Amino acid sequence: MNGKPRVLVTRRWPAEVERVLAARFNTTLNEEDNPLTEAELAAALINFDAVLPTVSDRLPSAIFDQPAMRTKILGNFGVGFNHIDVRAAQAAGIAVTNTPGVLTDCTADIALTLMLMAARRAGEGERQLRAGKWKGWCPTHMLGSQLAGKTLGIIGMGRIGKATARRAHFGFGMKIVFFNRSAVDDDETRAMKALQMKTIDEVLAASDFVSLHCPGSAENRHLVDARRLGVMKPGAFLINTARGDVVDTTALVEELRSGSIAGAGLDVYEGEPSVPAGLTALENVVLLPHLGSATAETRTAMGMKVVENITAFFDGRDPPDRVA
Ligand code: DGY
Repeated sequence: MNGKPRVLVTRRWPAEVERVLAARFNTTLNEEDNPLTEAELAAALINFDAVLPTVSDRLPSAIFDQPAMRTKILGNFGVGFNHIDVRAAQAAGIAVTNTPGVLTDCTADIALTLMLMAARRAGEGERQLRAGKWKGWCPTHMLGSQLAGKTLGIIGMGRIGKATARRAHFGFGMKIVFFNRSAVDDDETRAMKALQMKTIDEVLAASDFVSLHCPGSAENRHLVDARRLGVMKPGAFLINTARGDVVDTTALVEELRSGSIAGAGLDVYEGEPSVPAGLTALENVVLLPHLGSATAETRTAMGMKVVENITAFFDGRDPPDRVA
């Protein structure tokens, strides 16, 4: 290749990472920091050697069906890559990488934040106070549920699932049950006495809190649907920091409205950033704007991982986090 590879960063990144990137590559930034349209992304595949997309970009299979594409690698800024049709990218000869590991603790922290906020009615309490409606302490005011002694069900016992279980068990005295497609049997899981169950339904039926940590995919779309929500214990809470479409939102709104589950804590949404009015109207759901990996440290580490991946690729080495 003549000169430095041409690299497009689709959204603004922490300044420190942008500086490293600019020193190594011929970098173009999206100064306005608006999500790029599909047409802009399609043009990028023709004009840049590397495109560095993130969760707000859509790269469906049709986008890879164009002649004269220049892009050789998509260095995704994020661990989840369900916004990219990875098979179509691969078929078009484009490598795809992600950023695993560096956002594990951060995302597990947000899962616990949502559990605590939902169980202790923190959002509802804050809204009441800010609206000037708090009438003062009284023995029956805004009673929630405690975490200690309760059972947390984890769906997807990968890195983030385990980090969430660790916090809940060792920090808050919760019992852990989980579902994972493959067997999980390691020292840490044993130390937590975490019980692997054979089916998702068994986990749902046994848990006071259910936290989702499976990847977004066609297979996992509406994994938690009306039937499965009906399997959850009355009074249980559902926490989602994975991907919005893992849960059927319409069915969830119904369950929350009827009170057959006590509450939910959500960080991700089907079709985000729009959030259905059915959800925002409810008091028993905590809603965060996809903050799972949103710390300065983590976003910097994610950017550095992308730099590491594309540097390896253009140096002719195998990128450490290649997913396709
Ligand atoms: C990811 O990395 O997949 C997150 O959802 C974006 O922070």
